[in-house]
Amino acid sequence: MAIPRETVEQILQTARIEEVVGEFVTLKKSGARYLGLCPFHNEKTPSFTVSPTHNIYKCFGCGKVGDPAKFLMEYEHYTFPEALRYLAKKYNITIEEEQPTPEELMQRDLREKMFNINEFADKYFVDTLWNTEEGRTIGLEYFRERGYLNPIIEKFHLGYNPDSAHWDAFTEHAKKNGYSEELLEQIGLSIKGSKGLYDRYHGRVMFPIHSLTGRVIGFGGRILVNDKKSPKYQNSPESEIYDKKQTLYGIYFAKNAIAKQDECILVEGYFDVLRMHQIGIENVVASSGTSLTMEQIRLVKRYTKNITMLYDGDAAGIHAALRGTDMILSEGMNVRVVVLPPEHDPDTFAKEFSVEYVSNYLKENAKDFIRFKTELLLKDAENDPIKRGQVIRDIVETISVIPDSIFRITYVKECSRLLDMPEQTLTNELNKILRAKLKKTLGIDDNVVPETDTTTVSPKQEETVEDQLPAGYYQERELVKLLLMYGKEMITDERLDENGEKVYEQVSVAQLIVDDLKMDDFLFTNVVNRKIFDIFDQAIDAGYIPDDQVFVSHEDETIAQLAADLLSTPYKLDQWEKYGIFVKREEDVLRAMVLSSLYRYKDLIIEERRKAVEEELKAATDPADQFILLKQKMGLDALRKQINKELGIVIAK
Ligand code: GTP
Ligand code: MN
Repeated sequence: MAIPRETVEQILQTARIEEVVGEFVTLKKSGARYLGLCPFHNEKTPSFTVSPTHNIYKCFGCGKVGDPAKFLMEYEHYTFPEALRYLAKKYNITIEEEQPTPEELMQRDLREKMFNINEFADKYFVDTLWNTEEGRTIGLEYFRERGYLNPIIEKFHLGYNPDSAHWDAFTEHAKKNGYSEELLEQIGLSIKGSKGLYDRYHGRVMFPIHSLTGRVIGFGGRILVNDKKSPKYQNSPESEIYDKKQTLYGIYFAKNAIAKQDECILVEGYFDVLRMHQIGIENVVASSGTSLTMEQIRLVKRYTKNITMLYDGDAAGIHAALRGTDMILSEGMNVRVVVLPPEHDPDTFAKEFSVEYVSNYLKENAKDFIRFKTELLLKDAENDPIKRGQVIRDIVETISVIPDSIFRITYVKECSRLLDMPEQTLTNELNKILRAKLKKTLGIDDNVVPETDTTTVSPKQEETVEDQLPAGYYQERELVKLLLMYGKEMITDERLDENGEKVYEQVSVAQLIVDDLKMDDFLFTNVVNRKIFDIFDQAIDAGYIPDDQVFVSHEDETIAQLAADLLSTPYKLDQWEKYGIFVKREEDVLRAMVLSSLYRYKDLIIEERRKAVEEELKAATDPADQFILLKQKMGLDALRKQINKELGIVIAK
């Protein structure tokens, strides 16, 4: 149910950061700000600040920033709507949900009924396991034999579905309690056979599957006898409340540990989860045999960016580890792989060794995914040069999905070492892939152009990219970066007044860039760049310069993404010496950077406009048109000359 747009705005405007954070963190006033111990990382001296002026928090230790809603999303792991609902309640704002349609009401009713019957079944299976002769001697005995103790059996609500003569013990029990055959079949607890409904899980031990909030959304049942005709595991079919691709077994019991340890261990099976919990490692969930989905990855991402995949040491396990990982990487998450000794799966491994040994093994054998994949593929390829070529392409393909360019560079370095290949060769290969992706995305939407910064694209190739990019693409980005990083810094602007006298004036970098571009109508062409420019422009009109945090936690994802990307790649000031700029003071470096970036950008745009005018001029036949165009061209030439002169001054200084 959607929250109306106006209500969202009202909530965001009403919520006060110091009041929201104050509920979870002890804050002390310090000047215009508040100070406290950061709730997101361990620290002894406070570096977590709350600014009522900007209505944001920022930790100078771990770098987390955001507004009240973002705080709740980070701290309580709420989704955005959940955070809004929390704030609405706190500030007594009523959310007038848009009226549900009759279909929606029915849907809601059905979901309630499904949760209800699952809860009923869960109770029945647990009760049968503990309190019936068959349950105890067959079901409970099975768990006992595999070494599972009462606390874990109870915690995970493990159960047993009897194996009655007509396979209908549960179905009959449910019908007697008023549950309809239709619902039983729909939710998948029962199956319709020629002689009526029977239990899907007859004679199996039961694993309820819990949602994030602990409600039972489905079941898995393991067979206890050797029967080649029946599958080892029976799982609930999908339903209105059970979406397999969004579910991870154990997430309800693991989520707090995952957040606290900032790591999620991913295993394959139900029993692997149980065993790890039993020995006290609780940040573990299972993908339940299917290959990992994007939705499951995003679910984990609510709690941590670090995934460790723990897989069987056999070939199938290693293969499974390779699947799904590109997906995790493309979400900007860190993936590591631990391979167990060939004879083990996590369940048997953790059964055989102590918790210390297992933790240690995980620590010592966790391999960064790219290193893992490289070594694995290399072993396969041996000395076959054709296979080696494939390996390189395969690895570089994987590197190319990583959104952060800094990480990409790190991996190229690492792989160059592992593959014994010049870094440049890998970089070239990587750029080829990135460029192909760029081309593909460019035609569709400029916003999703990945940040192909100059650190991965060498100058020569940059030109090739430039052919497909709008003129001034890199120069625009450069100016946006300067705005974000140095917008508030003051520099000395030098210009001539109406008497031709030199005047010096202190202006902020943001003001200088915005004014200068507006004066000659050089407005950014890229949509996201333009949005950021407009925010600066409006803020300057209102008399202030926005913080970088405003952009980093902007509700427009494209703005937040670009800002974070640009801010996370620092400038190397000494690079400017390469352009012949030798400077003494830091302010002079900044000034030189700002002005030359401006001039380079304008120069490019003018060149573009000149070309257009020249084309028109060639086509023009009417002397009047020709005259106007000629004047335009002359104007542009003059502007260009002036800019080049100014650029020369900046560089010569
Ligand atoms: P045990 O053999 O009892 O230790 O179970 P396991 O979890 O080690 O099983 P395995 O490694 O063979 O499979 C891993 C996971 O894949 C299981 O936990 C199930 O979620 C799933 N799975 C395994 N076999 C089947 C099957 O026959 N059908 C279905 N639907 N899923 C299965
Ligand atoms: Mn197993």
